[in-house]
Amino acid sequence: MNRLSTAWGDVALARYPEDPRETLRAWDAADEYLLRRLAEDDMRASLPSPPAAPTGSLVVLGDRWGALTVSLAAYGPVQITDSFLGQSATRAALARNGVEETAVRMLSARDTPPARIDVLLVRVPKSLALLEDQLHRLAPAVHADTVIIGTGMVTEIHTSTLKLFERIIGPTRTSLAVRKARLIFCTPDTSIPRTAGPWPLRYALPDDAGTPGGRPGVIVNHAGIFCADRLDIGTRFFLKNLPARHDAERVVDLGCGNGVIGTAVALANPRAEVTFVDESFSAVASAEATYRENVDSDAPAAFLIADGVSGIADGSVDLVLNNPPFHSHRATTDTTARRMFEGARRVLRPGGELWVVGNRHLGYHVRLRRLFGNCEVMASDPKFVVLRAVRS
Ligand SMILES: C[S@@+](CC[C@H](N)C(=O)[O-])C[C@H]1O[C@@H](n2cnc3c(N)ncnc32)[C@H](O)[C@@H]1O
Repeated sequence: MNRLSTAWGDVALARYPEDPRETLRAWDAADEYLLRRLAEDDMRASLPSPPAAPTGSLVVLGDRWGALTVSLAAYGPVQITDSFLGQSATRAALARNGVEETAVRMLSARDTPPARIDVLLVRVPKSLALLEDQLHRLAPAVHADTVIIGTGMVTEIHTSTLKLFERIIGPTRTSLAVRKARLIFCTPDTSIPRTAGPWPLRYALPDDAGTPGGRPGVIVNHAGIFCADRLDIGTRFFLKNLPARHDAERVVDLGCGNGVIGTAVALANPRAEVTFVDESFSAVASAEATYRENVDSDAPAAFLIADGVSGIADGSVDLVLNNPPFHSHRATTDTTARRMFEGARRVLRPGGELWVVGNRHLGYHVRLRRLFGNCEVMASDPKFVVLRAVRS
């Protein structure tokens, strides 16, 4: 845990889940730059007068770990995020800093946004598609006098980012870079037609993306989720090599993304009860849409927005399927894969199996063998392996 100094006081912040060994801070120079600019007199005047209730007048979009929302809690912000972990970090930070949770309203990227926004702060997300989708959703609430400021590290702000603001909201200019961070100032142009964005995107699985017994037809993808516009090659390899089983069993698609893996299992084995889990609200919404689109049996399925298996009872699961995240910050993703494997072991019944797909070079087999005492290669090609570990 670290303390961020702001014009409104110090704020104690940590990533979620909090890990005493974690060395990464819960904010960066982009958050600090925006907070400093907001503390200047002309900007302070545009913030709602404290004590404010979270009406939607001030909206914080895409706050990573709560730094913006918690620092500005006195102004009654509405936070909009696609990340359950980000939302949980914000909740924990509010409690840690003695702020009532009711001071802030937390919405997911899939919730209906506020009807009128006077100040819109945008932490530019890593996914351009998510930004596009969110700007389309928020544009109807923006009026001619809405103050809009984006922030991000220079590596996160591209010409395409600025073009999105210009196409959907209005003319844009950027600040000088300070400590490798930049601000985006966008002036609303209310003559731009407020149209719906292109998401969710639906695509058909390629004919040769085979599964033993079950091949979902259409895959539904909300903006910002993993591989939203095409099937990932690792997922494709996993689909070809899923376990073929026909008994009644409880299956977890852990880190389900668009739900293609769990849906394939439900199609191949109508007696399977699949639980789809992801920390992204849009991923779980996509998985549910993919499942409903392809499966019409009465088999119960569950859709959980959670940190890993935290919502699942210990020893209650027969099979966990997992394509762990590997793209974001290296240290964080290693930790996530490890936590997913540990969680899977906890929720599996004795004899239950964890199947994992991964790039060969990630060395998941070493970790699984250490954790489960066994690990078998079920399939491999020059790039990927599918591994099985059995809970003893
Ligand atoms: C590599 S993607 C796999 C998606 C899908 N299963 C597939 O194969 O196409 C990893 C997924 O894990 C999710 N994820 C990352 N951290 C998570 C966490 N702590 N709890 C649950 N899901 C998480 C990501 O949102 C992402 O959808």
